[in-house]
Amino acid sequence: MNIAVIGTGYVGLVTGTCLAETGNNVTCVDIVEEKVNKMKNGELPIYEPGLDILFHRNIEQGRIKFTTDLAEAIKDAVIIFLALPTPPGGDGKADLSYVLGAAKDIANLITDYKVIVTKSTVPVGTADKVRAAFEENTLVEVDVVSNPEFLREGVAVDDFMKPDRVVVGTRSDRAKKLMEELYAPYVRSGNPVIFMDERSSELTKYAANSFLATKITFMNEVANLCELVGADVDMVRRGVGADDRIGKRFLFPGIGYGGSCFPKDVQALALSSKEYDYDFKILDAVMEVNQSQKLKIVEKMMKYYNNDVKGKKFALWGLAFKPETDDIREAPALYIIDELTKAGAEIVAYDPEGMENVRKMKGDILAFADNAYEALEGADALIIATEWQAFRNPDFKQMEEKMASKVIFDGRNLYDLHKMIDLGYYYNSIGRAT
Ligand code: UGA
Repeated sequence: MNIAVIGTGYVGLVTGTCLAETGNNVTCVDIVEEKVNKMKNGELPIYEPGLDILFHRNIEQGRIKFTTDLAEAIKDAVIIFLALPTPPGGDGKADLSYVLGAAKDIANLITDYKVIVTKSTVPVGTADKVRAAFEENTLVEVDVVSNPEFLREGVAVDDFMKPDRVVVGTRSDRAKKLMEELYAPYVRSGNPVIFMDERSSELTKYAANSFLATKITFMNEVANLCELVGADVDMVRRGVGADDRIGKRFLFPGIGYGGSCFPKDVQALALSSKEYDYDFKILDAVMEVNQSQKLKIVEKMMKYYNNDVKGKKFALWGLAFKPETDDIREAPALYIIDELTKAGAEIVAYDPEGMENVRKMKGDILAFADNAYEALEGADALIIATEWQAFRNPDFKQMEEKMASKVIFDGRNLYDLHKMIDLGYYYNSIGRAT
């Protein structure tokens, strides 16, 4: 099938590349010429494990192309994906100007039937708005379909190639048939393509992300309670998660969820509910708890150091909001850096992928190390903010030699409690004994 993908951000690139991988001819469009030129030369603008192999293979085999020319990209396309940014506007609601602007531009160019697919996370009712933009600008028939993405950064290629489910919102049989055909190679193992109306599909995306954020937040609160009552959250998590109705996944407590999706989507769902005069109370609580959870480590450190961290030197392992990404959006580490440096502490950070992004944003308030051990040189304590695999089994002997004090504040519960006690560390983690 001939496909056009408008927008080559994270979602657009993963979508375009993975669609090319199953034999479709994909043209990706972006307005940033420099970015398009780089991609034409095989430069992948994002870090995502496994994507580079597919990206290069499909460029070489001519199944994926890049252009700034919208007309050229959509001329032969049957399906056009809109993978454009929907940043929160000043009022916190998703700004649809990119999506609706592209809809208008496409409407003015098309001469034959197209399926227009909204892939970005968009508020309920957006498909109707996109449809209206077409109706105002062209007489050519189109079907507007909602097809939210459920990709997780770090495992996005796997999530696309082997999805738990594909959700497609459309009431058109013609569009349904095309979407079914397009996704067939990805659901061969029997996972469903679930068809529904556009509004239900749009809401599914917000409900899924908000539910997961709530699940994590619930466990974070259980962890906080564990610390007070002397229980161990690792045990509680296992006991709770063994119930199939609850499930083992997404029960890991930590220093709050971050990233570009959960914080934005929980807020957007809470706000849009209010527009319909519905007070989605649990979401307000989730946002409030998550905000304080991000500072849990700082709170613990302030207690440990009697509210005085002035002149202290801290090593910080992990900057990205989660492992296997360089994404630092809403990363708990950023809040920790701000609070501790404001209080007069010095921070030396190490992250396998996220350092460049933090350097650009906060390079003047912290230092960076070339590797995890270098960050520990003379440190009064180590703070762990991201659970990179490389931090899971470190050389504690080498750590001890570098650090000024054997103190660890672990926001991701990487180490066995008893082992840390045996090694003689002061080890403060989440929801477990100190
Ligand atoms: C999330 C969803 O998982 C995807 O399904 C969705 O497509 C995506 O948002 C999106 O809307 O685009 P992502 O933000 O990449 O994906 O990351 P997750 O792996 O879901 O993690 C989100 C946050 O939750 C991270 O900060 C992570 O550290 C935290 N988390 C996750 C926990 O604190 N505990 C857990 O048990 C799991």
